[in-house]
Amino acid sequence: MGERSELHAFVGHANPSIVRSAQESGGSYAIGDVCDARAVAAFARAREVDVAMVSADEPLAAGVVDALLAQGTRAVGPTRAGAEIEWNKAFARALLNEVAPEAAPAVRVVRQPHEVEDAVASFGGRAVAIKPSGLTGGKGVKVMGPHLASHADARDYALELLRRGRNGESVLIEEKIRGAEFTIQAISDGRTVVFPPSTYDYPFRFDGDEGPGTGGMGSLSLAEPTLPFMGAGHYSEACSIIERVIERLREQGRHFSGVMNSGFFATADGVRVIEFNARFGDPECMNIMSLFCGDWPAAMESISAGSLSAADVPLREEASVVLYLVSPDYALRPGGPYEFALDRDEIEREGCGVFFSSAVEAAPGSYRTVGTSRAVALASTAPTLAAARERVVGCASRVPVLEWRRDVGDERYLEGLRTLVEAA
Ligand code: GLY
Repeated sequence: MGERSELHAFVGHANPSIVRSAQESGGSYAIGDVCDARAVAAFARAREVDVAMVSADEPLAAGVVDALLAQGTRAVGPTRAGAEIEWNKAFARALLNEVAPEAAPAVRVVRQPHEVEDAVASFGGRAVAIKPSGLTGGKGVKVMGPHLASHADARDYALELLRRGRNGESVLIEEKIRGAEFTIQAISDGRTVVFPPSTYDYPFRFDGDEGPGTGGMGSLSLAEPTLPFMGAGHYSEACSIIERVIERLREQGRHFSGVMNSGFFATADGVRVIEFNARFGDPECMNIMSLFCGDWPAAMESISAGSLSAADVPLREEASVVLYLVSPDYALRPGGPYEFALDRDEIEREGCGVFFSSAVEAAPGSYRTVGTSRAVALASTAPTLAAARERVVGCASRVPVLEWRRDVGDERYLEGLRTLVEAA
C-alpha cells in the first residue's frame, strides 16, 4: 500500500476534495446512493479495492460494512450491529450503564406519548435534555437552557419527536449535565484502541454559542492530550470508558472497527458520557488527520487485520484548528445555492488544508454550495493554538459569501469553558 495506493471513492456528490484526491492517486470516483449497500459493494468489487473505509453514520446503519465483508472486501468501520452504538441511543445508554454506570447521566427512555409526562416529572426540578434515539445528523438534541425554556417545552419536544419518529423509535429524556464538552476520536481494530488528543467541537451556529445547534462550526486540539479545561483524570477516565464499550461490543459479538468519536462532559467530579459515534466526528476528523504523519492505507490494513498498534497512528505533537465556512442559511432556513470563489492552491501554500464538504466545483476556482450545509473546512496545525488559529482565520477572511464563527480557537472562549467545569 502506501505511496502506490489508489483512492476509489463512492460519494453522494462530486465533492471537490475527494474528486481531486481520487484523480491525483490514479483512482476513480462514482456518484450514487451511499446507503445502497449492494451498490457500494459492487463498486468495491469492480475496482478491486483492497481495503475500504465507510465513514458516515447512515451508510454504517444501512449495513454497508456488512455487505463489503460478506463479499470478502476488507473493511474499516463497524457492521450495522457494531454501529448500533450510534444509531440507537437507547441501546448505547443501556450498554454504558453496564460498563460505566458512574459516567452515565440519569435517563428515562420513552416509546409512547403517555409515558412522557411521568418521565419528565421524575427529574423533579432538574433540567433535562431531550434526544431522539435514532440518527439526526447531530441536530436533533435539545437542552433546557439553550433550546428549551421549561419542562413544559421539554415535554412538547419529546411528544413532537415521538409523533415524527419512525414506528417504535424511542426518545431519551436525560438529566442535563453541567460542564464542558470534549470528544476523543478513538481508533480501534475492535481490540486495541489508540487514543489521539482530545478535541473540542463548536456545536452552535453563532459566536458565543448563540443560535441553533449545528453539526459543528469548527474544532480544535492541543499539542497535549487534554484541553485547557480538562484535568489528566478526565482524559484517562474517558479513554478507559471507550475501551470498556469496545470490549463489551466484542463480547456481544458485534463487529466494531474504525473510529469511535466519543463525546463527554468534563465536570468537577469526573466525566459523563454524552454519546458515542461509530465513525470520525465532523469536523474533528480533520484535526486528527491533519496531525497524522503516517501511512493511512497501511493503518487501514492494520485495523482491518486486527493488528493495530499505536505505531500505526503517528501524530505530530502540535495544536490544530479547523474552521467550517458555511452557507449563510446553514441551520437557519432553506436557501441557496451560493457561489463562492476560493483559491485552493494559495490557501494550501499558506499552510491550511482545504476540505470541501457540501459543495461542488462550478468552474475553476469557483464553487457552489449543495443544500444548506457546511461548505468547506480550513484546517491548520502549528506549535501553538494561537498560530494555528491565526492561519485559518487569515485564509477564511479571503473567502467571500460564506459565514464562519470568529471565536473558534479563541483563548477567552476556552477560559469560559474552564469556569463552566469548575462550577459544575
Ligand atoms: N460533530 C458532530 C458529529 O460528527 O456528529
